Amino acid sequence: MKQNRLKQDAGVKAVDFIKSGMTIGLGTGSTVTYLVEELGKRVQSGQLDVDCVATSQRTFEQASNLGIKMHALSDVNQIDLTIDGADEIDLNFQGIKGGGAAQTYEKIVALNSQKNIWIVDESKMVDQLGAFPLPLEVVPFGWKQLFDRLHKENLNPHLRCDEKHQPILTDMNNYVIDLYLQKIMHPHLLANWLNQQTGIIEHGLFLDLVNTVIVGRLYGPEAIE
Ligand code: 5RP
Repeated sequence: MKQNRLKQDAGVKAVDFIKSGMTIGLGTGSTVTYLVEELGKRVQSGQLDVDCVATSQRTFEQASNLGIKMHALSDVNQIDLTIDGADEIDLNFQGIKGGGAAQTYEKIVALNSQKNIWIVDESKMVDQLGAFPLPLEVVPFGWKQLFDRLHKENLNPHLRCDEKHQPILTDMNNYVIDLYLQKIMHPHLLANWLNQQTGIIEHGLFLDLVNTVIVGRLYGPEAIE
């Protein structure tokens, strides 16, 4: 499928930004699996020697199985570079993440990284954020009361469920509520409001964190600064 090839191109290209000796944060999602695959090849062939932390159990397992040296976040002193996917990126490199329900670990790792790069296929580049539902990781206790509060604020909340209509669980056993907003006019104001709501562990607005994006395009991957 075309979109997967563009994701793969972006993931493979991102490995060029990794140098031996670095500590790397590995994000989560299908685009990142291509990055990890390529990194695994270069580690196995001896071209790269790096230490890594992961933003999810899925990524940790994939990378460990490929022989990449993985560590707990608390065991590393600094993260030189984190490479992660994104669900939407606007013209100012503000983003929505959390389609894979990993935004809390992803944000912790991103905030503690010297540099962050996002890897996406070109469909993720948008003029304005909001068409992709904004994920919130929420504490299960009192989720319904929080949901009602979000509903009263016209934020159009939906509890994320699996095919058996059970709430999906994050790596921390929390729930995810997606906000169907269509357009986010003021991302910083919304982020500040969400930060103040008890019961929300983390939201998927990733603001002012990234200055390099690698976009998989039909004519080849493009790194935009
Ligand atoms: C997971 C994320 C992912 O990075 C985001 O959903 C992009 O995923 P994909 O590369 O599969 O399109 O934020 O929480």
